Amino acid sequence: MQNKSAARWNFLFALACLLPVLLSCALASAQAPLPDSPGIEAKAHALLAKLTLEQKIELIGGVDGMFTNASPSIGLPRLKMSDGPEGVRTWGPTTAWPGGAALAATWDTALARRIGEGLGRDARARSVNFLLGPGVNIARSPLAGRNFEYFSEDPFLAASMTVPWIEGVQAQGVIATVKHYALNDQEYNRHNASSDVDERTMREIYLPAFEAAVTQAHVDAVMNSYNLINGVHATQNEFLNLKVLKGDWNFHGILMSDWDATYDSVGAANNGLDLEMPSPRFMNARGLLAAVKDGSVKESTIDDKVLRLVRLVLRYGFLDHPQFDPADATYSVADRTVALEGARESITLLKNEGALLPLNPARIKTVAVIGPNAYPAITGGGGSSEAQAFEPVSILTGIANAAGPNVSVLYSRGLPDTNELFKNTQWDGAIKVATYPSKDFTGTPETTNPQNIADWKPDMWGPEDKAPRSIRYTTAFKAAKAGKYLLLAAASGEDAFKVIVDGNAVIDQPRAEGQSPRFSSLDLEAGQSVKVVAEYLPHSPGVRFGLGLAYEPDLVSAEAKAIAAAADVVVVAAGFGPATESEGFDRTFELPWGQDALIEAATAANPHTIVTLNGGGGTDTRRWLGKVPALLYTYYPGQEGGTAIGEVLFGKHNPEGKLPVSFDRSWDENPSAAWYYPVKGADTTLHVTEPGENPVDYVIGHVKYGDGLMVGYRYWTTTGKHPLFPFGFGLSYTTFSFSNLHAPAMAASGSTVSVSFDVTNTGRVAGAEVAQLYVSDPSARATRPERELKGFAKVRLAPGETRHVTVNLDARAFSYWDSTAHKWTIDPGKFVIHVGDSSENTLLNANLTLN
Ligand code: BGC
Repeated sequence: MQNKSAARWNFLFALACLLPVLLSCALASAQAPLPDSPGIEAKAHALLAKLTLEQKIELIGGVDGMFTNASPSIGLPRLKMSDGPEGVRTWGPTTAWPGGAALAATWDTALARRIGEGLGRDARARSVNFLLGPGVNIARSPLAGRNFEYFSEDPFLAASMTVPWIEGVQAQGVIATVKHYALNDQEYNRHNASSDVDERTMREIYLPAFEAAVTQAHVDAVMNSYNLINGVHATQNEFLNLKVLKGDWNFHGILMSDWDATYDSVGAANNGLDLEMPSPRFMNARGLLAAVKDGSVKESTIDDKVLRLVRLVLRYGFLDHPQFDPADATYSVADRTVALEGARESITLLKNEGALLPLNPARIKTVAVIGPNAYPAITGGGGSSEAQAFEPVSILTGIANAAGPNVSVLYSRGLPDTNELFKNTQWDGAIKVATYPSKDFTGTPETTNPQNIADWKPDMWGPEDKAPRSIRYTTAFKAAKAGKYLLLAAASGEDAFKVIVDGNAVIDQPRAEGQSPRFSSLDLEAGQSVKVVAEYLPHSPGVRFGLGLAYEPDLVSAEAKAIAAAADVVVVAAGFGPATESEGFDRTFELPWGQDALIEAATAANPHTIVTLNGGGGTDTRRWLGKVPALLYTYYPGQEGGTAIGEVLFGKHNPEGKLPVSFDRSWDENPSAAWYYPVKGADTTLHVTEPGENPVDYVIGHVKYGDGLMVGYRYWTTTGKHPLFPFGFGLSYTTFSFSNLHAPAMAASGSTVSVSFDVTNTGRVAGAEVAQLYVSDPSARATRPERELKGFAKVRLAPGETRHVTVNLDARAFSYWDSTAHKWTIDPGKFVIHVGDSSENTLLNANLTLN
């Protein structure tokens, strides 16, 4: 990272002040070996020595949302940050890269490196020093709102993508920030939920991607998560920060907080936090000066934090050259190509009955492209990762380009947008809106009688309303026809609401950090009238509430049905998007409202219906999967997604993505379902006092990770049950075979074991296969999952071509975390190596004895 002139400068400086410093280095290194040259150490200590305690404390809190503080007296500049991880998104339009789950679906570590390099260049072009990514939390549940940013349910795959991604970023002289450390596996109540987990589960499932980031990629920044771990916030969690991160893994960089994730001055200072972001609410002079004076925080503890920052500044040469390099284009055509490759490699073909795909443009005259995700382009999910691309390619555009000039492309969104549905709802009689001057519907209300309930403003957040209000809407609805009706309600930000139909609460949106439209289905008789009441609690000034009811068969536009019927083939582009899958709230397992009906309507009009789905993982397909011959999962493919999807549909690219998560049929069958929400009655209270403020009590929910190691395919393969689509699965337009497995029958425990086999393209077109290697440990003393991914190789093969592949398994591949001895352990005895094309389809198997 350090350029040549920086190295020279450091060397000269080192000569000047080497002796006194070496002494202090020697003392410091009793605790943690230092990563930098003596020159950097010397200079870092010399700079530190010039700072007063107050100045040092100023350096351990952020400023202006996205910067570290400068220290002009020692010439230290402020350092600029950017989110992360799907693009360098904080400072204007940028390259929008495929999201984490998409990237993991490529199983292409070289591509992860190239995307990291692209992100690093994008960062430098915007003078960014810290990139706030990658996100490497484990996709424990499909509901977790940020799975799309993260890589996988499997720690080995997640770690394998994490390392080259970070190396790529840091090789450009930009500090990567691996986040969110740790166990932030849900968005629901993320600030006040404690992930209660045993050490073995942490070490085997939730920590390995972080561990690899530190020990293999040498990441220079780590971001603590919002949540608590076993009752203690991440930002002051001694076990995670001191024992594991800075102890076991010997992390030398900066541990920063997530934005407003700090809860205690002394607790954070003493338990490993080096930088409070975005501003020092706790690690400030008010909170720490007295603590240093009375000895509850040692000055050397503050010094260590400052040294970590200063070392990074020196190591990266931030004092010697501007971060901006004109060679790093803000708009890069080369990066567009890499983003396109990422999208191409990620798209996962889950079903292709009767070989409907690839489409042949010579045989097709008309394609109907229908659905809310067809246009405009959906590049990523919502929240802090949402990158605004310069020219994102929509699925509609991608299909039109791939189909060429002789195919007619028809388009319809197919569903109304949410506010349109609210506006068009025909309520039965008047709507009464009573606005109370209180939060609990007491006092004398002001009343109005609007024509509809259509004030939804999706992205409206705001400060807490100082003039509390509660609003009750009372109306009725009369069903014209018998059948299913969609009841839809939406508010924004932290607003809460409840919808009550004939006395039953059918939708309940509690106050939370974020939300998407909520829906429910009502079965009504022809002529049946129901009383509808909505109780709305706006959190901030203004009204952002909408309510609507619609006959489900009429939701889908007549135009969409007509073009579906008229076309040779239909592509329904459905799935989630930034408003429905996002940081700050969990998503539904069902598709967003109306989409099931849309797909059903398309299949009813035309059996040649292909569905493409955006999302961060498994979703409910039960209503329509049996009627749909082809299904493509596209994750969040970034700005070039439309082009890649068009190419896959028309056979210009052979699909090669493999699921980085298992797809369940229903939310109930997900192994975390019984454990996902806090244990009822187990809440605890946390008192927090911000220096200079009154104490605040937080109610902490305790999420017990009773699913333990049984995450995703570990559960499915151990129980012998089968998910809808297994981890590692994905179809191709060609076929592959595996043969010729070679593994030693015996090896020494702790040695590296080489396994090799052949992969052959047995079909007629070129394609790529991901050979996956799983290890079973049937003779272990501890209970282990039936199999665990320990190696993979992506091979690109011409028709008929065979490649001999070798995968090396190190000691860790056979180890589990011994909870009593607190270390990685191999039990000598029998192991089984399985090789195949998914977690469930491993036709090559070999026994191996470790002695
Ligand atoms: C997110 C982080 C992000 C930070 C800065 C937080 O809300 O959890 O992932 O880097 O904001 O935008």
